[in-house]
Amino acid sequence: MNTINEQSPVASMNTLLPLAGKKGLITGVANDKSIAFAVAKAIRALGGEIALTYQNDKTAKYTQPLAEALGAKLFLKLDVSEEGSLEAAIQQCGEEFGELDFAIHSMAFCNGDDLHGRVIDTTEAGFDSAMNISCHSFLRMAKAMEPLMAHGGSLITMSYLGAERVVRNYGVMGIIKAALESAVRYMAYDLGPKGIRVFAVSPGPIMTRAASGIANFNTLLENDAAKAPLGRTVTIDEVGALTAFPVHAGFLRHDRPDDLRRRWRTYRRLRPDRSNCCGQPEKRAKFQIGGGSLPLI
Ligand SMILES: NC(=O)c1ccc[n+]([C@@H]2O[C@H](COP(=O)([O-])OP(=O)(O)OC[C@H]3O[C@@H](n4cnc5c(N)ncnc54)[C@H](O)[C@@H]3O)[C@@H](O)[C@H]2O)c1
Repeated sequence: MNTINEQSPVASMNTLLPLAGKKGLITGVANDKSIAFAVAKAIRALGGEIALTYQNDKTAKYTQPLAEALGAKLFLKLDVSEEGSLEAAIQQCGEEFGELDFAIHSMAFCNGDDLHGRVIDTTEAGFDSAMNISCHSFLRMAKAMEPLMAHGGSLITMSYLGAERVVRNYGVMGIIKAALESAVRYMAYDLGPKGIRVFAVSPGPIMTRAASGIANFNTLLENDAAKAPLGRTVTIDEVGALTAFPVHAGFLRHDRPDDLRRRWRTYRRLRPDRSNCCGQPEKRAKFQIGGGSLPLI
C-alpha cells in the first residue's frame, strides 16, 4: 500500500499551524516506541504533511496503523541496504508533493558482535553494512532530496553521545556516529548555499527496538537518569518536539543564499539529553522543553 487517503484526527489541521503546507519524508518508524514516530507526531501536530517509510513487509503490519493514525500522505517501503530503494522512495515523494521541505533520517543498524566486541575485531562486512545503513544512507538521502528542495529545507539525522566518548557496548557504532556527525558538517557546507540546512539530533538513551540490542542498556538508562538534572532520561516526545524545531526554522525561505552562511550556522548538533554535557556552556543556546535544559552545541 502506498497512498493513505483517509482523514485522520490529526489531519484536520488549520493553515495557521507553523508547519502548515510543509512536506517531508520521515524514515525509521519501526513501532510506536521509535524516535521517528515521535518526530512524526510532533511534525503532524504542527501541521506538516509527511511520507512515512517501513523497512520490510514484516514491520509494515506494525507501522501501517501508525501511518494511518498520523494521516501520512504516503507509506513507502524503504530498505537502504537495497540498491535504489532510497532513491525510489524519494522519487515517489517528489511525485506526490512536488517540492519537499524536510527529511528525517532515523535509521541505524549494526551486528550485535560489532557493538559488544572490541572495535579492532570488527569484520569488514560488519563495518561496511553498519556504515552504509547508518551513515552513507544520509549522504544518499541528501543527494536524492537536493533537486526536490529548490527553495531550501532541513535534513536531520540522529546521532548519539558514543560519537564523541567511549560508551560501553556501543562499539563500532560510536565510530559510525562520529562519521555521521562529520558528514553533517560537510553536507551543511555543500548544501548551505542552496538554503538546505543539515542537523544531527543527539538524544540521550531511550529504550527502543534498536536500543534493546545493546547489552546492559537498562544499566545505561539508570546511570544516565542518576546524572540527569531531572532525575530521568529523555522521552521520545521530547526528542520529537526538539526535532520539529529545525524543521520549522528551515522553512524560512532565503532569497539571498549568499547571506546564509553569515546569518545562520547551517549545521548544528542538538542534544536533548541533559545540560551537563561537555563544551562551553556560555557558547550554547538553550531550549527548555518539559522542564529540561536542552543545550544547542
Ligand atoms: N534509542 C536510543 O537510545 C538512541 C539514542 C541516540 C540516537 N539514536 C538513534 O536514533 C535512530 C532511531 O533509532 P530508535 O532508537 O528510534 O530505534 P528504532 O528501532 O525504533 O528505529 C531504528 C530504525 O532503523 C530502521 N532501519 C534499520 N536498518 C534499516 C535499513 N536497512 N533500511 C531502512 N531502515 C532501516 C529500522 O527499520 C527502524 O525503523 C537511530 O539512528 C539510533 O542510532 C537512538
